[in-house]
Amino acid sequence: MESGINPWSGSQSVDIDRLFAEFGIAPVEDEVATLKNQPSFFRRKIVLGHRDYGPIVDAINSGSRFNVMTGFMPSGHPHLGHLMVMREVVWHVEQGGSGYVAIADREAHAVRGLSWDDCKRYGREYLECLYALGFEGTTYYQSENEQLKDLAFEAAIKINFSDLQAIYGFSQETALAHADSVATQVADILYPQLMEGPAPTVVPVGIDQDPHIRLTRDIAHKMRWFTVLDQDAVISVRSKNAPVHAMDAIAAAFPGSKRYEGHVDVPGADCLSVSEKVRAVEVAEGGYGFITPSSTYHSFMQGLQGGKMSSSVPDSLFWFDESGADVKRKVMGALTGGRMTKEEQIRLGGEPDGCPVYLLNLFHMVPDDEELLEIRTQCLSGSLLCGACKKATFERVKAFLSDFREKRDAVSHMVV
Ligand code: TRP
Ligand code: SF4
Repeated sequence: MESGINPWSGSQSVDIDRLFAEFGIAPVEDEVATLKNQPSFFRRKIVLGHRDYGPIVDAINSGSRFNVMTGFMPSGHPHLGHLMVMREVVWHVEQGGSGYVAIADREAHAVRGLSWDDCKRYGREYLECLYALGFEGTTYYQSENEQLKDLAFEAAIKINFSDLQAIYGFSQETALAHADSVATQVADILYPQLMEGPAPTVVPVGIDQDPHIRLTRDIAHKMRWFTVLDQDAVISVRSKNAPVHAMDAIAAAFPGSKRYEGHVDVPGADCLSVSEKVRAVEVAEGGYGFITPSSTYHSFMQGLQGGKMSSSVPDSLFWFDESGADVKRKVMGALTGGRMTKEEQIRLGGEPDGCPVYLLNLFHMVPDDEELLEIRTQCLSGSLLCGACKKATFERVKAFLSDFREKRDAVSHMVV
């Protein structure tokens, strides 16, 4: 398979550096340097990569319009592994973004075979979690959103089977509904702009979703009516099957421009301002004028037992509604970066960096940087032993879960 990433296969280990180099994902660190208050997922390098995140940083810093959108496949109860994306979405909403969350029930039904009823039930739980974490904005089930489905159909005009084969490894045996769920996800990502007009849109996802991002960026571009080329002497506005009335409108929008069969040349102008005006004309004439969506990529937390965190390995994670006893067993039984014997650990210190318990704290359980550093320092120095560390971690998890449960109950009425 060309892409090396398959969003539907659960068993893969991705080499982040290689993927970044190969697919043009850029490190996010430099991009977010101008953010005044960096959230912990940037500070702690949990969110590592991005495509086109610059416009989002600009929008946050200048207070201009942007969207944050993501989707959850309701194929089971929400769990620890979903928390990072949820927090990213909520943070972007807090920074002024318009929030959108899709429950990908078309995907869950078509690809995972879940009944529509189960999709409904699980979907509710994801939405409840989001609202409990402070989400505000628009949520929907794919199957119930007629405008979304119409947009998916329009997007599908620009998607062909060789794209699907190249990007996802689809074959002659792939179900048409599976392909349809891909078009639906493309539509999810473009939906905020359908609702509110063109604006930068960031999609926070795990690296496994990058194929969808690449496809959507390509399709968003293909759905534009015009491309704008800087040809030094003139800025050339080229039609890609734009209707005649839109070409007329472009010519009229730029006095002194020269109109040709398939393009309009604008002399003495600046490319960026022409592009923005062209986008506005496109929208006014009934086109989409999509801005190519942006994305961020978070790294995946290791499972509590080491290895991949996955709902198919129940001890690798906990579900948010799991019993206290089960959560305790999982945290206390987690793999650590500790030494073979107590003496050795006191002498050499532990190894927090690959330790799932440490990572659980780093990702989610210790918001305060100094407190986290303290844990790390004590671990490295051998003054903190794994038993005590796991116990303290479990207490944090317990407090988090009970607070989370309370908040979920309080917002449950917001899920319709
Ligand atoms: N395919 C995603 C998953 O498996 C869910 C999803 C649906 C999504 N629509 C989306 C993710 C839009 C990001 C943006 O979890
Ligand atoms: Fe991990 Fe804590 Fe043990 Fe250090 S002391 S290795 S952080 S469990």
